[in-house]
Amino acid sequence: MPSIEVNSASVHFAGQSKPTLDDINLIIPDDGITVIIGPSGCGKTTLLNILAGFITPTSGTISSNGQTISAPGSDRVVVFQDDALMPWLNVAENVALGLNIAGTDKTTRQQRVTEKLQQVGLENVADKPIWALSGGMRQRVGIARALAVNSQFLLMDEPFGALDAFTREQMQELVLSLWRQHSSGFVLITHDIEEALLLATRLVLMAPYPGRILEILDLDYSQRWRQGESLRHLKADKTFVELRESLFYKLVARSPAQHEVAI
Ligand SMILES: Nc1ncnc2c1ncn2[C@@H]1O[C@H](COP(=O)(O)OP(=O)(O)OP(=O)(O)O)[C@@H](O)[C@H]1O
Ligand SMILES: [Mg+2]
Repeated sequence: MPSIEVNSASVHFAGQSKPTLDDINLIIPDDGITVIIGPSGCGKTTLLNILAGFITPTSGTISSNGQTISAPGSDRVVVFQDDALMPWLNVAENVALGLNIAGTDKTTRQQRVTEKLQQVGLENVADKPIWALSGGMRQRVGIARALAVNSQFLLMDEPFGALDAFTREQMQELVLSLWRQHSSGFVLITHDIEEALLLATRLVLMAPYPGRILEILDLDYSQRWRQGESLRHLKADKTFVELRESLFYKLVARSPAQHEVAI
């Protein structure tokens, strides 16, 4: 099965007393939702950056479908935390950006943009300027833009961090419905334990100083949503609540006090 494979990857930035990532081993399948959670500073963004090919590990290897990753590639597209949209372009033009760069013909481009805007529920604002959108709508544009290029992997770094709880829940449902419609592997970084449990087919729990993988859990709440259970019902499920609490204590216990944070 196509996958991204991380083998014994470590990242040690100059001037840091400990590695930011230490001996990371991970397989990311192209048909699941891999969620990475861990305390601030444990190296989540650094891990996403090596998956994206923005930085190369100090030691170890990363490969996508057996090919070593040494640069960004069209098989892996990134959705950033801040929406990173072009304010001088309208919604549809922003969604078309990656397709323009890829040299996609005009007819395909228009079809793809219309389809992706429908999938994220923004078909009625295609002509609107970016500044006229809410934060949640901007993130939808960023996701539509990433999906438009039909990439094998969609990498998201805390895409909903700046959204209110209600909008965030809508975005969680959106991710699940997009996952149902696309045959892509999703990788999502979050600070939100409930979000992690709900969306992950595979949950990667990280610890800091040095940044490392503590535990990997295979979960089925996203599958259960696919089979018709509601989000609210799943979040109230007894084992879900128990898991949420145990993860909370694991993450809190691993969070360094401010004075322990290594620079
Ligand atoms: N380019 C860099 N040069 C030096 N140090 C870096 C660089 N990038 C990240 N770091 C350090 O690596 C550590 C991990 O950073 P990273 O951004 O990956 O953490 P994170 O888990 O994403 O945190 P957060 O949850 O706050 O976003 C931090 O101590 C950070 O200062
Ligand atoms: Mg980060």
